[in-house]
Amino acid sequence: MTQTRKKKIGLIGGGQIGGNLALIAVQKNLGDVVLFDIPAAEGLVKGKALDINQLSAVDGYDCRVTGTTDWKDVAGSDVIIITAGVPRKPGMSREDLLDINLKIMRDVAANIKTHAPGAFVINVANPLDAMVFALQKISELPKHMVVGMAGVLDTSRFKCFVAEALGCSIRDVEALVLGGHGDDMVPLVRHTTVGGVPLTELLAQDKLDAIVKRTREGGAELVGLYKTGSAYFAPASSAISMAESFLLDRKRILPAAALLEGQYGINGYFFGVPVQIGAGGVEKILTPKLDESEKAALEKSFQSVKKTVDSVKL
Ligand code: LMR
Repeated sequence: MTQTRKKKIGLIGGGQIGGNLALIAVQKNLGDVVLFDIPAAEGLVKGKALDINQLSAVDGYDCRVTGTTDWKDVAGSDVIIITAGVPRKPGMSREDLLDINLKIMRDVAANIKTHAPGAFVINVANPLDAMVFALQKISELPKHMVVGMAGVLDTSRFKCFVAEALGCSIRDVEALVLGGHGDDMVPLVRHTTVGGVPLTELLAQDKLDAIVKRTREGGAELVGLYKTGSAYFAPASSAISMAESFLLDRKRILPAAALLEGQYGINGYFFGVPVQIGAGGVEKILTPKLDESEKAALEKSFQSVKKTVDSVKL
């Protein structure tokens, strides 16, 4: 019998998303999980690890969670998901988090470089496109091993609102949201199909506009409801789908913030586009054919991302 090594998943940040990531990872039997946070949060990560291990005994999952404040425990991770950082509160933009989260990212990226340079790293911290840029620059990890999670989340929100509006199963909605993880993101309405039928034939323009707006403001809607933090269930599931595609070499086509080198006319910036994720990390970047208005919307989104990224002092 061939023995395969159990995979290791490092989760940096033991907050709401981190706890959910750990839970979903063991429920999917993806590998052993190390839940890391700073010493002030030691009880939190150790408690969550113990709690989940007790649940996995009930349900019979074979993966274990370790709560730690020591980077050495993260060493050798196959996948790392970063949720460390501060979430926004009502009235704040994601960009308002730049300074505080960049400080945290500097430390996280340097430690990944030291302890887990072979990992596939998924960033969830905001402002997402700028954080993933800083992460790759500081960690110096190969460009195909660093991505930002947002497109999966934004696309999932878009699909959810479409299915709700039509009263149909979300499984039959095929859609894609391109661009930066901000208010200018670009849900590709013209490319969306429901059971093979173009969405534009199923909903009137005012309904489509309302869905696009709600998708763009999807994060803020939850910040307004939670009051003290931001979304955590859907972001965790979204990041796990990317981690799973890497760990199991699924080669899924998922929207992610990837480093563009000329594609879409963009060079040297991370931006949300469809990519193939497999054992090689980002194995391909796809470039769907866009019409003039989609190109213009994407350019607007890129200019917002560029403005934030250009203000990053590494
Ligand atoms: C989200 O979209 O849920 C996250 O980016 C968190 C936020 O601040 O909106």
